[in-house]
Amino acid sequence: MSDESLLHQVKRTGVLPGLPDKHFIDGAWRPSAGGGMMESFDPGRASPHATFAAGDAEDTAIAVASARRAGEGAWKKVLPRERSRILSQAAGLIREHAERLAITEVLDSGKTISEARGDVAGAARCFDYYAGAADKNEGRSFPLGEDYASFSINEPVGVTAHIIPWNYPLSTTARSVAPALAAGCTAVVKPAEQTPMTALMLAELLHTAGLPNGVCNVVTGTGAAVGSPLTAHPDISHITFTGSTATGINVMQAAARNIASVTLELGGKSPNVVLADCDIELALDNVVGAIFENAGQICSAGSRLVIERAIHTKFIERLVQRARDLRMGHGLSESVNFGAINSAEHLAKISAYLDDARSRGLAIPTGGNPTLDPATGKGWFFEPTIVDNLAWDDPVVQEEIFGPVLAVQVVDDFDEAVAAANCTRYALVAGIFTRDLSKAHRFARDVDAGQVYVNEYFAGGIETPFGGNRKSGIGREKGLVAVASYCKTKSVTIRI
Ligand code: NAI
Ligand code: MG
Repeated sequence: MSDESLLHQVKRTGVLPGLPDKHFIDGAWRPSAGGGMMESFDPGRASPHATFAAGDAEDTAIAVASARRAGEGAWKKVLPRERSRILSQAAGLIREHAERLAITEVLDSGKTISEARGDVAGAARCFDYYAGAADKNEGRSFPLGEDYASFSINEPVGVTAHIIPWNYPLSTTARSVAPALAAGCTAVVKPAEQTPMTALMLAELLHTAGLPNGVCNVVTGTGAAVGSPLTAHPDISHITFTGSTATGINVMQAAARNIASVTLELGGKSPNVVLADCDIELALDNVVGAIFENAGQICSAGSRLVIERAIHTKFIERLVQRARDLRMGHGLSESVNFGAINSAEHLAKISAYLDDARSRGLAIPTGGNPTLDPATGKGWFFEPTIVDNLAWDDPVVQEEIFGPVLAVQVVDDFDEAVAAANCTRYALVAGIFTRDLSKAHRFARDVDAGQVYVNEYFAGGIETPFGGNRKSGIGREKGLVAVASYCKTKSVTIRI
């Protein structure tokens, strides 16, 4: 079936036939040991679209054992250049199956098809990038003088666990699994229970590309039933977790008991600073994209607008108009550019923040309410929302709402903007819009964040390291630095 007719069919029926409903373990589909199943919901319709395996500690242990066997056996024998070839092949297969993956991602997560297509392309690009890294993981030599040969080897850490959230199911899986495999590790992936499908599909594609059995396993189910035993498993050497700060703390504690290393990509409340001297049109486009893309369900969303008083009133007027112009609806409609909230539970959480904001008398120039797909009267949606003129200690400024809610802080000058940018417990990303090169550099120097964007929010790619400071996390993904998280250095010194 052509991509176009597949999209039409799924739009009509609401389901995509042939989605996986078992774990992917040791290179094969495997039902849950306990026989349990769960439903995955289509947030755009607020109804289930598929079922999948509800795993438990037993499934998890089988997957870890399979990953360990593969890591100590077949995968170890595969030359780095062959790993490289397999990862390249995987990138090609992701592109070949791009539309099916994108449609699945829309059904599972509620995002728009154009965002999902972008995520799939990004996932393929991850595999291209780390394919290039697999055969360039060079060690060093150490100058002990002519009587010694001393060098280091970057060995794979072993079995790695990857705990994935529901906002970017495929791309988060790809960006952590690809460098782990490039380093020679094996993997057990636990996708979010809201969005399990594309990780399963990716694991199958990776094996089609030539991964030996057991190198990449996926166990589906809840955080309590699968995530928790996975992070506590004594054979896991490294855990990469993306999700809430609260769960990140649990993961780090579980890792401590086994002296496993962690990469934690946690929450954010990232500032987008707009100075009076900026290109206003450019800033408007970027402020809108930074908070309303993926309906604001992005760890690195620009969820705080820090704006100079001189341009505040006019800018907010234009921003309100831009927010109202967004076309909300089911992600499979190509005319839509603002999708659904991932779950009823999460929608209720966002709504509670806004109910509370209203009860405190805050200025909400647009949005503030849960709503439905205007085309069908169904689904979990939340209006694009702006909360204006906030005090720095307000919960709308301090807490990660993780939805389409922009918190506005008005400042008098550049120095106050920097202080406002740094005023939360999070420190993931920070954006600034200015024509003043020196202010841009001073901001980059003085803001606490893992990444700084000047005149383009979300600038960067798989090449640029990504991660958070403070309560936003520890360690870095993306870039070559990510490969190092999956390696342990061994130095060898020989008296000759
Ligand atoms: P969560 O952090 O609980 O879930 C993320 C992943 O961790 C899921 O796969 C989940 O099954 C798993 N998990 C849950 N408990 C676990 C445990 N004890 N051990 C191991 N794995 C476990 O996030 P949740 O409940 O889905 O969302 C809550 C809030 O987290 C959101 O409102 C948002 O603020 C934040 N969040 C941040 C994300 C980010 O990209 N940084 C992504 C998703 C959520
Ligand atoms: Mg779902």
